[in-house]
Amino acid sequence: MTNGKMKKKIIIGNWKLNGSLNMIENFFKNLRIEMFQSSALDFVIAPPFPYLMNVGRMIRRYHNVFLGAQNVDLHLIGAYTGEISSLILKDVGVKYTIVGHSERRMYHLEKDAEIAKKFLLLQKEGIIPILCVGESLSEKRSGNTESILMKQIRPIIEMIRNTDFLKIMIAYEPVWSIGTGNSEDPSSVQKTAEFIKGYILDNLDIRREFLFIHYGGSVNSKNFQEFIEKPDIDGLLIGKCSIEYRSISEIFSKIK
Ligand code: 13P
Repeated sequence: MTNGKMKKKIIIGNWKLNGSLNMIENFFKNLRIEMFQSSALDFVIAPPFPYLMNVGRMIRRYHNVFLGAQNVDLHLIGAYTGEISSLILKDVGVKYTIVGHSERRMYHLEKDAEIAKKFLLLQKEGIIPILCVGESLSEKRSGNTESILMKQIRPIIEMIRNTDFLKIMIAYEPVWSIGTGNSEDPSSVQKTAEFIKGYILDNLDIRREFLFIHYGGSVNSKNFQEFIEKPDIDGLLIGKCSIEYRSISEIFSKIK
């Protein structure tokens, strides 16, 4: 499954505040290694912090499966009780990290400028940040989706403009679609992904192949294909279904 430019698409499992040692053992016991060997998709698992090492050990046997984290602190080292730095994430083998998830914006009051700093810190360590953006239901209803997305993406563009950045990964997750069973229409996501790419290409010196737009919000093993087949949807960020080995197996067995 690649688009015209042969980009490899990616499935990112955001486990959020779910999981246990038992669940991890069971998950990998049931995830067939061969399924990933020839897969045209990469798979990233972002477990809660304490399980990074466990999941990291488990995925060593798998091809095309990588370790992700759900957040990072702004500081690198020192007296910041309860926080995790990009240095620590790199040390334990994390390759991707989600920043600015709407749940962090909502429950931890994270703001765009702070999220942009996290994005830059991660890039400096060679970890690929995945910036989450998305509009609320009222913003969608009032026709403000594009202006909200630009507001959320602009600080990143300003922050990395003069840096040696690797690539830009953005997860478009409409807030109203997360965990509700109401996913956005795939054609509408395709249009939004095109819009985001156009906005970044107009404002940053970057080649299209280094730009990745993902969709997240009530994606499951039944509806994922409609999204992943769109030319400008480069991957999916999956919450609930990503902790179910059956759903993940179904997704990877449908895509060869
Ligand atoms: P759900 O797949 O559970 O809707 O969650 C989406 C999400 O927030 C992934 O980051």
